[in-house]
Amino acid sequence: MKAIIQTQYGKSDVLQYTTQPTPEMNSQQVLVQVEAASINPRDWLIRSGKYQMQFAVPKFPLILGSDACGKIIKVGSGVKNFKIGQEVMVMKNPRDGLGCYAQQVVVNEKSIALKPSNITFEQGAAVPLCALTAWQAFKKKANLSSGQKVLVVGGSGGVGTFAIQIAKALGAEVDAVCGPTSIALMKELGAQDIFNYKQDNFMSELSVYDVVFDTIGRHGFTPYMKVLNKGGTYVSTIPSPQNLIASIKTSIQSIFSQATKKIKMVLVQSNGRDLQEIARLIENGQVTPVIDSVYPLQDASKAHDYSRSFRAKGKIILSMKHD
Ligand SMILES: NC(=O)c1ccc[n+]([C@@H]2O[C@H](COP(=O)([O-])OP(=O)(O)OC[C@H]3O[C@@H](n4cnc5c(N)ncnc54)[C@H](OP(=O)(O)O)[C@@H]3O)[C@@H](O)[C@H]2O)c1
Repeated sequence: MKAIIQTQYGKSDVLQYTTQPTPEMNSQQVLVQVEAASINPRDWLIRSGKYQMQFAVPKFPLILGSDACGKIIKVGSGVKNFKIGQEVMVMKNPRDGLGCYAQQVVVNEKSIALKPSNITFEQGAAVPLCALTAWQAFKKKANLSSGQKVLVVGGSGGVGTFAIQIAKALGAEVDAVCGPTSIALMKELGAQDIFNYKQDNFMSELSVYDVVFDTIGRHGFTPYMKVLNKGGTYVSTIPSPQNLIASIKTSIQSIFSQATKKIKMVLVQSNGRDLQEIARLIENGQVTPVIDSVYPLQDASKAHDYSRSFRAKGKIILSMKHD
């Protein structure tokens, strides 16, 4: 199979387009013929050796990639819920071996879900890590319920574009913070009030929220405490020491007072059940993946440089079609 590998940490030129053997699978895994993969910021952090959980990253030669979409071509003897020929979305964490920048990937059946029939493989590859991050932030960290008011900070990114749609699908009213060139996209995705972070005073114009989901972390949690309702939750995708300490502190305080404003961090887990719930929202038309751009697999280094610019609107995809 064709795959992007790296044998040392460094800039995007360490990514090499090579021929590799098909990965070995165990009895609980399936082998997927990958049609598309997607890029996440953690890919270039891992590539350069700067990921917070670098200790969990597999050894060289390393094949990056947490997200893939394709067709099952082999199943292990212990696999119960999937069969050859099914089209699936895949999420792999570092401790599961990553490996999605390749024409074939092995994955545990617990980390996959059926691809909705109304989306392409490229859209399917956009879904897993980012949509699961938003889903787990709202369902498991913020206990979001219908009728609540949510602010998504960084609404135009990979996580943000899913977060707006998932929060709406869960019955919330959603506002978004984005740059000036993303305002139309935010409206299209269903955000109500939209705040331009390039305007100095945007913080003073915010409403009051039950949940602030911060996918950027530029300002930390302090300014958002002022716009949280009593008992509300600030959830961040940034695993900083400040967020960690504040989350421990506020979770202890919340045992004694329901009015405590909680600070939480989400660390995305690969979870086939959660992914299947998201697939249902896509099938219902409540969530549609937003694609920024599609690169052929051999251009993974260009795709990394673009992702590193932090300007993508929605997801950056690697397509195997051209290989
Ligand atoms: N903890 C976890 O499990 C987890 C999971 C997923 C992601 N993450 C982290 O979450 C962050 C976001 O990930 P992502 O995949 O969404 O990234 P991304 O798609 O690369 O985000 C790019 C977007 O961020 C927007 N942006 C940049 N600066 C901004 C600012 N100051 N305010 C508002 N928007 C801003 C850009 O809009 P403009 O071009 O308009 O500026 C662009 O649309 C990354 O740091 C990633 O590592 C963590």
